[in-house]
Amino acid sequence: MNHFDYRDGQLCAEDVPLSEIAAAVGTPFYCYSTATLERHFRVFSEAMPKGALVAYAVKANGSLAVIKTLAKLGAGADIVSGGELKKALAAGVPASKIVFSGVGKTRAEMAAGLDAQIYQFNVEGEEELDVLSEVASSKGATASVALRVNPDVDAKTLAKISTGKAENKFGIAWSRVKAAFAHAAKLPGINVAGVALHIGSQITELGPYREAFAKAVALVKNLRADGYQISRIDLGGGLGVPYNDKMAPPLPESYGAVVREAVAGLDAQLIVEPGRLITANAGVLVAQVLYVKRGEAREFLILDAGMNDLIRPALYDAWHDIVPVRHSSAHAKVYDVVGPVCESTDLFARDRELPAVSAGDLVAILSAGAYGAVQASSYNARGLAPEVLVKGRQFAVTRPRQTVDDMISQEQWPDWL
Ligand code: LLP
Repeated sequence: MNHFDYRDGQLCAEDVPLSEIAAAVGTPFYCYSTATLERHFRVFSEAMPKGALVAYAVKANGSLAVIKTLAKLGAGADIVSGGELKKALAAGVPASKIVFSGVGKTRAEMAAGLDAQIYQFNVEGEEELDVLSEVASSKGATASVALRVNPDVDAKTLAKISTGKAENKFGIAWSRVKAAFAHAAKLPGINVAGVALHIGSQITELGPYREAFAKAVALVKNLRADGYQISRIDLGGGLGVPYNDKMAPPLPESYGAVVREAVAGLDAQLIVEPGRLITANAGVLVAQVLYVKRGEAREFLILDAGMNDLIRPALYDAWHDIVPVRHSSAHAKVYDVVGPVCESTDLFARDRELPAVSAGDLVAILSAGAYGAVQASSYNARGLAPEVLVKGRQFAVTRPRQTVDDMISQEQWPDWL
């Protein structure tokens, strides 16, 4: 459920017509709905056992305004870089609710996390443990750690966004887990408090979760039997969202039931790290049709948004619904919807049926609130699209469009030119 609906023939974000925002900020732009963000966070949190730390995965949408909207509802943050740490803190997420994930933390990032006194580092390897131990000891600090294990479970999602198989770079190999806990216990500056996992993203079946969670819970019990004090379990994120009407991923409630069943009686602090579920359907990318171009065998809708703005279709063959901003009862036509970037992969949709549109019309690419703006680039010297947050009848530009002058001013000349 989201708050992008047609009213009087105009697609609106809550109470604001997207055409009104387009007139004010130009196209393309990202638009997020506060009500949808809040609803998704609430529905997800309410599906979790009481007391769970819902650490929003900032990587899905790093807009400060989005993070702050969620932080005000009590969200923590799952971060993967020193940059995301700064953003989460700047947006008002308490350090006591921040979990630092990721396979390649630098010493400087570890130091920043320790200085901020974050809740937990999710450590992904013995090599990383050694370095965190060194960094923490040199500061006279102790890092709270969960070891992220790789449960070798197939999340049955797109291969490019699967993370919990043995062949993936993530987590500690299942056969090395016991050795890693034993190693960690001997290290100064490290307090291993938990087990963590994350098996992938856009997961649309509950089976892989059941399997992975059961393995994690059994591991916690096993470690406790060996004398380790394991008081936390982090089950990661990954719950899929519907990108169109035909997709029906499990609802948060059903996912919550699987979580509850898995951790029942475990007596551990539960952490979860949802990203996409909170933000994907809370955002759209609005673009203008530049040309309707007739090719040999097909018609191209050439938009002013490109793969630099939203790379998911090009990178993962991901599906995003595309709709006209002004409701249309025109006859349907089949288009290849493309951007202006000089790459054949700059394609949002092939053979897509849409009501006939003309140059100058606005279209909205839906479900673009997760892994959209955060994965954008300025390829072809195209400035990053602005981000707009709507709340009821109000809207605000939360990140202005990056101009070419901004880009030029960030470069410098070498002495010899
Ligand atoms: N926790 C960890 C450790 C993660 O690696 C991720 C996502 C999440 C939580 C959040 O997962 P979510 O709930 O959003 O599925 N760029 C890709 C998705 C990459 C996901 C990376 N990790 C895409 O556009 O589909």
